[in-house]
Amino acid sequence: MPIAGIYGPDDFANRPQGQATSTPSAAAQTGPALPRPSLEWTAEVERATAPIYERLEHVIPPIEWPLIAPAIHAINQLKRARNAVILAHNYQAPEIFHGVADIGGDSLQLAVEATKVKADVIVQCGVHFMAETSKLLNPDKTVLIPDSRAGCSLAASITGADVRLLRERFPGVPVVAYVNTSAEVKAEVDICCTSSNAVQVVESLNAPSVIFLPDRYLATYVASKTDVKIIAWKGACEVHERFTGDELRAFREADPSVQIIAHPECPPDVLAEADFTGSTAHMISWVRERRPRRLVMITECSMADNVRAELPEVEMLRPCNLCPHMRRITLANILESLLTLGEEVTIDPSLAARARRSVERMINLNN
Ligand code: 13P
Ligand code: SF4
Repeated sequence: MPIAGIYGPDDFANRPQGQATSTPSAAAQTGPALPRPSLEWTAEVERATAPIYERLEHVIPPIEWPLIAPAIHAINQLKRARNAVILAHNYQAPEIFHGVADIGGDSLQLAVEATKVKADVIVQCGVHFMAETSKLLNPDKTVLIPDSRAGCSLAASITGADVRLLRERFPGVPVVAYVNTSAEVKAEVDICCTSSNAVQVVESLNAPSVIFLPDRYLATYVASKTDVKIIAWKGACEVHERFTGDELRAFREADPSVQIIAHPECPPDVLAEADFTGSTAHMISWVRERRPRRLVMITECSMADNVRAELPEVEMLRPCNLCPHMRRITLANILESLLTLGEEVTIDPSLAARARRSVERMINLNN
């Protein structure tokens, strides 16, 4: 059914001014800095990184490898010295995703894996809300984000005060927050969801109506899959909202055999043209199972490189919308992060306890 209502900052006369909060403390340093490694292309670097290059040879030209491999080698050595793990979202560049990450995945997989980490240090290669989620689930570990400016247009669209205003307007209606929100927002809601489990989370509440925030398009997608009345917020992903149905139709007209898969953060006219809709992990599983000859992935375009590295036989036609926030994470700042233990993510403990409950409630749904 269509969404039952959509609200935004302009709908609340008494809304306090201000942005979504909860940024990490600036470049906190929690341990001694390590000596800076050499970034020379040597025989030792070539030998040590050869198995990594085998995974990347379809997406990184051989001429570029000597420029990239020394940083990959240094990061992998520093991880051992720091007893650190690197968690990387599917949208990270291939040299990060396949070169240095210990665990890769979608938002749900990363949150679940974060609960199992044994290392002392987690380096989150993704955006800020992902690093906050890892910190919520690992309050006693050092969680680092190589560039704390890696934000998200969805997380920036709503504050904790906005959630309180929505609750005043709809008393008794439970609130589901997409994980693409700040810890401050997670602390105000009943449960979190990701694009992998949004419908399941909404239905788990056994309520006739649910406030679902902040992504209006994911809310519209969820509303199309459930009888629960969905009240939405006017947030959108700046990457996925740029795709259009016309763009998808043009791909099909050029080659009617092409397969098109899309992320549910896209507008409804885009999803109407897609052969499959799912989270980044569900899209990857779909490609692994179907192995289409030609594929268009309607999502952040680094993911197409990561999939092509694994399945070179699938030809990717790539409308390339990059997430500027995901792109802030680079091999250079990951190296710096491991050397200096900055920037450390910190969350006020009383707020963290409430936000953690919302994330754990989601994770426990499948346990
Ligand atoms: P998922 O990886 O959970 O599908 O999320 C996509 C996204 O845009 C994360 O920022
Ligand atoms: Fe946020 Fe969209 Fe970037 Fe994901 S792709 S981090 S939802 S802006």
